Amino acid sequence: MPSNETELLHFGDDRFKEKGAINTPVYRASLFSFETYEDFVEARSNGSHVYSRVSNPTRATLEAKIAHLEKADHALALSSGMAAISLSLLALLKSGDHLLVAMCCYGPTRQVCDTLLTNMGVEVEYFDSSDSPDLSSYIKPNTRVIYLESPGTMTFQIQDLRAVAKLAKANNIYTIIDNTWATPLYQNPISLGIDVVVHTATKYIGGHSDVVAGLLACNDELYKKIQPIAEVLGAALSPDDSYLVTRGLRTLGVRLKEQGAVAMKLALWLQSRPEIKRVLHPGLPDFPGYELAKTQLSGYTGLFGFAMKDPAPGEAQYAFVDALKYFGKGVSWGGYESLLLPVGDGYRSMPKIRQSMGIEDEMYRVSVGLESYEDLVADLENGFAARAAALEKLAVSIDV
Ligand SMILES: Cc1ncc(COP(=O)(O)O)c(C=O)c1O
Repeated sequence: MPSNETELLHFGDDRFKEKGAINTPVYRASLFSFETYEDFVEARSNGSHVYSRVSNPTRATLEAKIAHLEKADHALALSSGMAAISLSLLALLKSGDHLLVAMCCYGPTRQVCDTLLTNMGVEVEYFDSSDSPDLSSYIKPNTRVIYLESPGTMTFQIQDLRAVAKLAKANNIYTIIDNTWATPLYQNPISLGIDVVVHTATKYIGGHSDVVAGLLACNDELYKKIQPIAEVLGAALSPDDSYLVTRGLRTLGVRLKEQGAVAMKLALWLQSRPEIKRVLHPGLPDFPGYELAKTQLSGYTGLFGFAMKDPAPGEAQYAFVDALKYFGKGVSWGGYESLLLPVGDGYRSMPKIRQSMGIEDEMYRVSVGLESYEDLVADLENGFAARAAALEKLAVSIDV
């Protein structure tokens, strides 16, 4: 079997059919026309491309690659990660069902659960994902779906995928996971028994911060439930964006190798700094989920976090972030450019979630891009110096 890194480049590309074109062209066509009406009827019955909301050759190349990488029967490419997440939940839940959700999930995922699904009559319950708990006590006769995000993408909590899948199967419950942190190169949840994998391809898979996209992968039985809903929700990824995501995917292997290695070196460097209380990285032996992560992940990507020993007032935190030249200030992650995000602010009004996720007063999330390790270290050193200077200035102004 060729490696996944090789498959990224070649699997699903039917170059002979495309007149030898090395990349599947962008089929910018809303519909496909036929020479005869008979051909049209035939195309409709055999699943050929007829209308691009339903299927399109450029998107099909991407979907074939993702299904293969995720060890799934099928994949769908959607207009955003949120479209993939919402689709998976809407397709598998109905009024009266009970949904269990990992507390550490992405904020807007919680929003879908607390608004759309709750309004539909779905009973939503969150479980504390801080210590990979045994979920058996949460299971009710109407539990229909368990939703996971592992590693969580804010504080990197690890859930036990094999244990959750086993429990779910024994109780006829579907499992969904947001696999964006690991990508299909470093974690294959379907092989561990999970039913549906969702991604925001906006992050590592797209990889260049130039496209918003989502992906979903599952087996044949669930695809028959999910695909018809995808068709009528109308959130299919455009041919142009499908092309961009496929282009990003081809270099995912080399990018992740570099970003993961630099992130690990930075994490170790941060651990040695006197200002740092703890570094949150699933590949560090003192990380709470380290042992479990080793049994599920085959590699570590470039998103991790750190908490400061003595939380500084806002002015000094701003001075730190503002002094950084390469770490951009902004949301999202997984692109070619490094980013750094203070994570405390967004959770101040949610004490329960904040506690469960282990969010501290001065904590940062780092997305390591493709800049050199030396330049990133120098940047952080400048930031820490600016923070120390701001703290000194504040101390003087208090004394005066
Ligand atoms: C873990 C995770 N899942 C899902 C999403 C949503 O993806 P999108 O912005 O492509 O809708 C994000 C976006 O930041 C994310 O971080």
